[in-house]
Amino acid sequence: MSKDKLWGGRFTQPTDAFVEEFTASIQFDKRLYHQDIRGSIAHARMLGKQGIIPQSDVEAIIEGLQQILQQIEEGTFDFSISLEDIHMNIESRLSATIGEAGKRLHTGRSRNDQVALDIRLYLRDEIVEIVSYIDLLIDALLKQAEANLDVIMPGFTHLQTAQPILFSHHMMAYVEMFKRDSARLEDCLKRVNVLPLGAGALAGTTFPIDREYVAEQLGFSSITRNSLDSVSDRDFSLEFLSVSSILMMHLSRFSEELILWSSSEFKFIELSDSFCTGSSIMPQKKNPDVPELVRGKTGRVYGNLMALLTVMKSLPLAYNKDMQEDKEPLFDTIDTVKGSLKVFADMIREMQLYPANMRRAAGQGFSTATDVADYLVRKGLPFRDAHEAVGKAVAYCVENEMELTELTLTEWQLFSPRFDKDIFAAITVEACINARNVPGGTARERVWSEIVRCREGK
Ligand code: ARG
Repeated sequence: MSKDKLWGGRFTQPTDAFVEEFTASIQFDKRLYHQDIRGSIAHARMLGKQGIIPQSDVEAIIEGLQQILQQIEEGTFDFSISLEDIHMNIESRLSATIGEAGKRLHTGRSRNDQVALDIRLYLRDEIVEIVSYIDLLIDALLKQAEANLDVIMPGFTHLQTAQPILFSHHMMAYVEMFKRDSARLEDCLKRVNVLPLGAGALAGTTFPIDREYVAEQLGFSSITRNSLDSVSDRDFSLEFLSVSSILMMHLSRFSEELILWSSSEFKFIELSDSFCTGSSIMPQKKNPDVPELVRGKTGRVYGNLMALLTVMKSLPLAYNKDMQEDKEPLFDTIDTVKGSLKVFADMIREMQLYPANMRRAAGQGFSTATDVADYLVRKGLPFRDAHEAVGKAVAYCVENEMELTELTLTEWQLFSPRFDKDIFAAITVEACINARNVPGGTARERVWSEIVRCREGK
């Protein structure tokens, strides 16, 4: 009945039962209970300090809220759909428990600034946790790179063998991506960590509130500067969803590679049994379910970004009920990103390699052809001419079903008189790798110094 509602004063008819359920958000926003209570305690303290409500009420409110917190954590709190959302469930219980004082809590505040506060508090903690999960994944990658520093594998472009590289170099490529993801999250956090409370419904409040004091209590680094913006801004969530989408894109590329590499055709790696499943019909199967699922879950994270962008599109200022739709995509992305990072770090740590298979593949597919051309350049031939000569040598090898490393000196000299017997040492895969001794290159010492740099937290 509208009489039970915190906003029931101007209503004469009760809310339709289905509408009540349709408009409620308690089913999913109950996960904000902790933030809602923290925010209310800070707000109550400020109201007391400013003399807006009596100090004895502040004490009753804090005690009442702490009891509610305990009930929710013990699972004895009854959430009610007719009380719509977490804010009204808690406030209404508070008034029912402590009476008058509870009814003073909402002075100078609206659910519009309250919900913005709760989301910011929640997201702030989640970002810190996600960054720590990224750190764990980076650590697992660094361990693999350190333990397998010298393992050689083919590097690909177009998924065709391109040039030999170190496996550790490949792992370090992902370290770079995840470090950027982490930096993007830290940057996003700066814009999340701003206090919106005090905006009221949209225009501010008539009470002499102290926003800086609330910000200080809740650990916000600053306060928002415009009340309309404070209650209608969700770009901090959108930014998080964008950053998360990029992070999942990285995980999905890595997943794809792990799936390929663990196939019997590649057989570069073996994922631990605990990250794979079998088939109900084919007894030989060991399916890389975890990377497949992470690749698949990337879709829902992109979808969540699109969902919120679309919800926010064209909304007039300030708050609109549409914005209640912001929470599920946000929560789903947080859960998905955390789950994916956690499982990935463990999977990478336990991944086993087949170095001999990788090494063999690295020597196939004319992977050293660029180095033959570079060799001719060092002997004085312009690069374009060298490219042409080596192209002919490759065609000769294709014709005769052989690799470049199998050509004799006489055969080499069919393509250029500049070939000499030092060609053989110049085109071993090890030589090709170590010759790429430039910053960012795959030479052993370059990869090692990158590992050291990352270990030093740089
Ligand atoms: N449950 C609402 C939400 O999540 C809280 C804000 C409601 N404000 C309002 N004016 N109806 O958006």
